[in-house]
Parts: sequence; C-alpha cells; structure tokens
Amino acid sequence: METSLIPVEKLTETEAEKELERLSLIIAHHDRLYYLEDQPEISDAEYDALRLRNEAIEKRFPNLIREDSPSLRVGISLLGPFKKVKHRRPMLSLDNGFEDQDVYDFIDRTRRFLGLGADALVEIVAEPKIDGLSATLDYQKGHFDLGATRGDGTEGEDITANLKTIKDIPNFIQSTDFPKEIEIRGEVYMRHEDFMAMNDARVGQGLPIFANPRNAAAGSVRQLDASITANRPLKFFAYACDDYSPFHVKTHWEYLEKLKGWGFVVNPLARLCKDVEEVLIYYRELESQRGTLPYDIDGIVYKINRIDWQNRMGYSARAPRWALAHKFPAQKAETHLDNILIQVGRTGTLTPVAVLHPVTVGGVVVSRATLHNEDEIARKDIRVGDTVVIQRAGDVIPQVLNVVLEKRTPDSKPFQFPHVCPICGSHAIRLPDEAARKCIGGLICPTQAALRLRHFVSRDAFDIEGFGSKHVEEFYKEGLIHSPQDIFTLEARDKISLTPLRTRAGWGSLSAQNLFKAIEARRRMPFHRFIYALGIPQVGQATAKLLARHYLSYTNWKEAMRAAKDPGSEAYATLLSIEGIGPSVSQDLIAFFDEPHNLSVLDALLKEVRVVDEKVPQVSSSPLSNKTVVFTGTLQQMTRPEAKVRAEALGAKVASSVSSKTDYVVVGEDAGSKAKTAKELGVKVLTEEEWLQMLE
Ligand code: IVH
Repeated sequence: METSLIPVEKLTETEAEKELERLSLIIAHHDRLYYLEDQPEISDAEYDALRLRNEAIEKRFPNLIREDSPSLRVGISLLGPFKKVKHRRPMLSLDNGFEDQDVYDFIDRTRRFLGLGADALVEIVAEPKIDGLSATLDYQKGHFDLGATRGDGTEGEDITANLKTIKDIPNFIQSTDFPKEIEIRGEVYMRHEDFMAMNDARVGQGLPIFANPRNAAAGSVRQLDASITANRPLKFFAYACDDYSPFHVKTHWEYLEKLKGWGFVVNPLARLCKDVEEVLIYYRELESQRGTLPYDIDGIVYKINRIDWQNRMGYSARAPRWALAHKFPAQKAETHLDNILIQVGRTGTLTPVAVLHPVTVGGVVVSRATLHNEDEIARKDIRVGDTVVIQRAGDVIPQVLNVVLEKRTPDSKPFQFPHVCPICGSHAIRLPDEAARKCIGGLICPTQAALRLRHFVSRDAFDIEGFGSKHVEEFYKEGLIHSPQDIFTLEARDKISLTPLRTRAGWGSLSAQNLFKAIEARRRMPFHRFIYALGIPQVGQATAKLLARHYLSYTNWKEAMRAAKDPGSEAYATLLSIEGIGPSVSQDLIAFFDEPHNLSVLDALLKEVRVVDEKVPQVSSSPLSNKTVVFTGTLQQMTRPEAKVRAEALGAKVASSVSSKTDYVVVGEDAGSKAKTAKELGVKVLTEEEWLQMLE
C-alpha cells in the first residue's frame, strides 16, 4: 500500500520514515511552484493538508523529523535574478487553526504559558488574513530604503524599486516621532476589480492571464522592470514589524494606530477583542462578508495584543507562538458537470473524475474534482449534465458535494460506472470489501504497464543492472518494450534494428553491450523473486517468499492459483492455510491468474526466462537459523538488501523494528534509535565486523 494512503495513526516506523521523505519532497515542489513560479498546481487547502499530515507524523515519531523537514523551513530558497537580502529577523509563517476549538486551545496555551489565571484579560487583535505576499520595508531616517520579499524566511529578494511604485507605501515620513531605523512588514495584494481589469487587458494583448489575484501580485512584484510593476494595480496593508521596541508601544493595537498616523494603510477591519467569544463573532462576521470584500482573504489572524506577552512567548522555528491564523472553511460554487472521466492509477484503481465547466472557487479556477469511487457517484446520484455544488475543503482536493436537482434535465440518465478498464479493456472488478473497482489488466494495461515494468526490473525483483527507471520509461514510450518479455528479446531485435541502441543519444557500444549482458544474466530467476517481480497487488517480497516456499515451482503455483478460483476447492483452502496469507491477498492472486491477458504475458515471459524452483527448506544447523536480526545504520561492507539476503540464506529472519523477540541488532554507521532500543531491551548488539565474523 502506498504510504500516502495510510492514516497517520496506522503508520509503522518504516512507513512513517518513507512518508516523511515523500512529504518533504512534495511540499518543496509545491513551495517552488507557489513562491517562485506563481503557478500553484494545488489549492491552498490541499497544501495545508500536506503540511498538517507532515506535522502529525512528526508528532507521532519525533525521532524521524528530517533535517530538511517542511516544518523547519518557511517558503523556499531563492533562485530569482534579484539581489538577496538577509532579514534582520526571520520573516516567519503562522500556525494554522481550522475550528473554534483551535482558537480556544490557542488562548488556553497562552494562559498556561504566561501563567495567567482563568479570569485574566487576554486581549486579541483580529485582522483579516490577506491572501497576497508578504514584504518587509526598511526605513532609514524616514526614507523608504530597502524592500524585500519573504523568500525562504531568512533571506528574501531586493524588490525596492518595485515596491516604490506602490502608492500605499510612503516613500518619506516626516514626523518627529518616526523612529530612525525600523522595519515594517505587511502584505502586497491586488483588489478583485483591478485584477479582472488587468486580466481583461492581457487577453486583449494576447498575454497569458493570471489564475488569481495572489499570483498576479506575486508576478508583478517580481518584475525586473519596475515600470511594468508601476502599471500593475498593487496595494499594501501594513500589519507587523521585526521589532516593536523602536516604536515605544505597549500593544499591537497601539502599533497599528501609530502606523495609520504616519500614513501607512492598515486594514480598517482590524478589531481589538477581549475574549474568545468576541474573536469568534468577528470571525463569523468576516466569513459572511468574505464574498463581498474587494480583495481575497483566506482567514483571520489573531495576535496577542500585549507586546510584553508576545516577547515572553517568542517564536517556534516556523511561527510566532503569540499568533494564530484561523483559516476559513471550504468555499463552494455551483457549476455544470460536463463529463465523468475514469482515471487508472498505478495499481489499477479506477478513479472517477468530474470534468467541470471551469468555475472560480476561492480565487482558484477549478475544472476537475474527484468523485472518489463508484458508490459515491451512486449515493449522490451524480449524472453527466447535472448542475453540481463543488467545494474546496480544508484537507481534500476539490470535490462534488451534491447535485442541484431542480436544475436536472428530464433526459438525464444515471451514470454507469464501467466494468472494463478504459485504457486496456480488461475487466475491472470490485472485491466484496473494497470501495475501489480495479483494472486487472496488470501487465498489459499501458498506464500500469510502465510503472509495473519499473517494478519488474527493480533491485529486489529482476535487478537488471544499468536499467533504471529512466531507461524503462524511455523504452516504453518508444515502443521498444511493452511487456516484461520484451526486455529479453531486446538484443535480438537490436541486431536487426535500423537504429540500434549504440547509435542512440546517451548510448555507445559499450553501454549497450553491458545492458544486454545484464539482461542475459537474469534469464534464470529464483522463484520467489519472479513472483515478487510480477507486481501483483499486495504481493510484496515477504508474501512472494511465502508462496515460493509453499508451492516450490512456478507450474505448481500457477495450477494452484487457477484452481483456487473455486472457493470450494482444496486449492483455495490450501492457499488460505498458508500462514501470512489472508483472504484479501488470496483474492488478488486469484484475480491475477483469472485475467487471460496476464496468462499470455506469463507464457511469453516463460519462453525467455527460466524460473529456478525453490529448494525444499532443510532444517539447517546454522547458528542463525530461526534467529531474528535487525539491521540499522549504514553498513560498510554490503548494502542492506544484500545483508538481508545473506542473513536469510543462513536461516535468519530479518525484521525492521526491534522488540524483545529480536535476537541480534547489527549496527552500522549513524545508527539511530534502534540501537538504543536494543540496549534498553537487553538485545545483543553487534558491530558490522562482529556480524561478518558470525556469518563466516
Ligand atoms: S502576521 C510574524 N498578519 O500570512 C507574523 N500575516 O501564513 C507575521 N498574512 O507570511 C505575519 N495577513 O504573508 C500577519 N494580518 C496579517 C496577515 C498576514 C496575511 C500572511 C503573511 C504571512 C502569512 C502566514
């Protein structure tokens, strides 16, 4: 199962580690799109969901927090052509809340942190959270001297010239009480009407339009030519600073008053609240006004008013502890459902996708929404041609909420979910306890095929040296390899090809020869690896071994799987009796062998490859037989997979986490918590050297 699908509370440590790596990469990717390219691919809500998941996993497994964890960085490092500016103090992000309870918790935390009694007055300044981009303004002796973007939070870009074109930003302040050296922070944004007029003009000029006001503002502020920025209708709200001390104020509210006095634009909707109830009333007021405000807001920011308290609370790595961004829930919109497409995922799952007449929901143009699965469509009776209500919610991709029945046309018909794969035409079946319908075309379904081929040649499967996923994809796209058996006919076909491999870009005689050699070397394959390589859903290495040890030969196995289709058969009973194999895996195995396409691929493959029968396991006298071993840290003499294979060859079981049942923990370099756990549990710890001696 993909780790992204496993609920946080169910993740094992290994899965959590993998998932944190995935999240770090994907969040960095979306940060790039958002901050640098102004071309986000996902909604803010989806982005928030990724971050929340990352945080939740880190909370459960604090020892797995990565050095490059998204929770430790803000925004993105820069590439742009602007001069870099180091912020005197980091420009941080804000912690998010989504429900009323999060606001109560925030105030409770504040009280506890400051040791305040339940009846002490905790004033809060509530301000609309402007959906623009933050900027910092440096004033020296009243002159606007340097302006920068947030960048990665530590270092931003010098966009002074561009910011000087914004009328809301005073260029010079002539006031006796204006401090000599200060920094003022706030948000650059664009009003809806300005945004639309600008996009209209761009259409007229044949230029691409901006997806939303935020992107338009970000794109405008990062123009190299300030005269372009000058023609963009940008605005600025001031709301923060890097350090309150030069201002001689006791509260944030007083600070805002001072800013106004000097000619900065402070959001007129900001309000001083004296308790959570007032704060929540404000939140609801603005939520209902949100659609009619002249600019985008995506929530409310609460700030503890007293600056001495702010100072005591300080900052976490990412955000001030004295502030909270209370996000607004999903925005909804009505639109026409033009079509329902069926997408095929890596494991063959058919996912229905709503093709919508494009509609703006909360500043983002939505033209696709997920319909989850077949039952969801039936339950909501969603039909092509319907008018539907869609929403972008806090943690999901856009979804179809319901159908507007009054607008349904009389000729509409219920949607028929296909029972064959739209890509390859194989049966798409649905197992009794599953919500998903799956294409069982496995090896012949093109969408799945490319991904499965990658699996087929991967290290623990056929392990063809020098044949990485890049080559697999390239060969697949060019039609050189469609099914696994094609790998083994590659050399023969290459000999008579007009464009042999050695003549292609990136290849030479030597590398082509090496690839063919590596392929030749895999014409004999141990049975369990062969099983694993087939990529049958739920059949990982461990299950493949169980099957191999039980059935011993391919022919035997195949016959048994075919026979097991009949649930009353002995073959089925036998399959279920194997320890570690349950009904769900059994179903996947049976379905795989019930698909004629798979059988023909297997037949073709077996013309090329000899599957080496599994040896009858013999009772071994090795000191390692039936011992459980855990490897941790980086081994110097061999890779982990190799270590595992060698240990298993001597009858040991290799586990991934340490428990009291573990016999040995082998520690390589930079071993983490597992070595510690082993010591605590009194499990024998071996160095790599000691382990190697033992092997001998
Ligand atoms: S205060 C140290 N106030 O929200 C606290 N931020 O998600 C600095 N934002 O980077 C932020 N309106 O770009 C603050 N009234 C407001 C805001 C606001 C919008 C943005 C800002 C910040 C982001 C955090």
